[in-house]
Amino acid sequence: MDGVRKTFDKWAQNGRAELMEEEHGENVSKFLQTVSFDKAFTFLDVGCGNGWVVRKIAKEEKCKKAIGIDKSKKMILEAIKKTSVGNEKFIHTDIETWEYRGKFDFIFSMESLYYADSIEIALEKIYKILKPGGQFFCGTDFYTDNKATARWASIMKIQMHLHSKKEWKKFFQNAGFLIKTKHIKDLKNTKKWKREYGTLFIIGTKPKK
Ligand SMILES: C[S@@+](CC[C@H](N)C(=O)[O-])C[C@H]1O[C@@H](n2cnc3c(N)ncnc32)[C@H](O)[C@@H]1O
Repeated sequence: MDGVRKTFDKWAQNGRAELMEEEHGENVSKFLQTVSFDKAFTFLDVGCGNGWVVRKIAKEEKCKKAIGIDKSKKMILEAIKKTSVGNEKFIHTDIETWEYRGKFDFIFSMESLYYADSIEIALEKIYKILKPGGQFFCGTDFYTDNKATARWASIMKIQMHLHSKKEWKKFFQNAGFLIKTKHIKDLKNTKKWKREYGTLFIIGTKPKK
């Protein structure tokens, strides 16, 4: 079993999934408030953990379907346990090898993509399963510019690809996305990096052609 799966299987059972929900909740909520969910839409969360974002989005009035995928089976079992409304679905798979025939209006991922074996392959898949005009929202706290988080890789001792904001933008451009970026800061947080750098969101739009 790979290290990423093993680590998050453990986190699913020792309360750290809920800690992530707490840690990421503020900035993710702030970011999601900038997105307009006013037309009927479908939503995918890549690396959904215990599924908290899927549950939040599934409650949006216009949400037809919200799917969460995660390569940790135990995270998916936790997410299924917490399922609250009928338009939610959780699937145990990694993004790279997932065989999915449909296409989404919105794809989201928080603190997950840099664990992928290959960010390029993951982005290629995400691009493929987005509708033309659809958007991918990718949140990361772990990026070179945010120096305080760079040491996380040595603490976690698992595969974590560290890149700068410039490199992230290049990955998205190479995959075909039109891009924008946003830093969501938490000005009252006790952690300096959350006040000064915050979460980097790369917003990739698939061109309509
Ligand atoms: C740091 S956690 C974040 C979980 C959740 N997004 C949150 O903010 O609470 C990263 C999650 O991504 C999952 N993950 C990592 N690589 C993945 C991949 N290639 N495909 C699907 N899930 C992946 C892990 O199993 C883990 O549950």
